[in-house]
Amino acid sequence: MRLVLLGAPGSGKGTQAKLLTEKLHVPHISTGDLLRAAVAAETPLGQAAKEVMDRGELVSDDIVLGMLKERLQADDAAKGFILDGFPRNLVQAEMLDQLLGEIDMPVEHAVLIQVDPEEVVARIAKRAEAEGRADDTEEVVRHRLGVYRQQTEPVVEHYRQAGVLSEVHGTGSIEEVQQRILEVLRF
Ligand code: AP5
Ligand code: MG
Repeated sequence: MRLVLLGAPGSGKGTQAKLLTEKLHVPHISTGDLLRAAVAAETPLGQAAKEVMDRGELVSDDIVLGMLKERLQADDAAKGFILDGFPRNLVQAEMLDQLLGEIDMPVEHAVLIQVDPEEVVARIAKRAEAEGRADDTEEVVRHRLGVYRQQTEPVVEHYRQAGVLSEVHGTGSIEEVQQRILEVLRF
């Protein structure tokens, strides 16, 4: 299964992807997690990305695409993947199409998890207390929501045009949302 999870920051992409990976037996690939690991390891890439991430802006396509390509070449991704947080703009979506087109393995499903912005702000405020992610302040979250609307929402249309988009409501319990996703995947 080659699946892309779409949705605003805080919509539950990471939470749902972690559960789905057990059911679908394909790896969860989060560019946000890959970037945070690079920041924690203080690699040159991580050092370049940190400030951009802390502001809630998108890291450059070159950096993210390089990281993603490498991750997709790992053995466990041969049978499919769940992408979370990628593609984040139209350039990334087109690069992914090209990359997967070359090996004749296009994205099969894109699932948009829909959550109202105010619910997002409330969820992230809770997570900020628990985890202390540097970009989880209210100000940065609102900025991330703006970046999502401007740069990532066109990606939703991209997959709609391709005929692979499904939409699910992202409110309710984590299990309820999971069930809705499995239903649209007919799994
Ligand atoms: P990234 O890590 O992708 O963060 P994000 O998209 O802002 O999303 P979050 O991880 O905050 O939310 P989520 O949808 O995963 O929700 P979660 O499951 O955690 O990106 C971070 C930064 O990295 C970007 O700003 C950018 O700088 C950079 N970056 C990453 N990818 C990039 C790319 N491709 N290109 C360029 N730059 C990139 O849930 C949120 C909270 O809600 C959790 O606490 C969870 O427990 C809770 N929750 C989940 N489901 C429910 C529910 N049903 N009910 C109540 N609470 C729930
Ligand atoms: Mg996440």
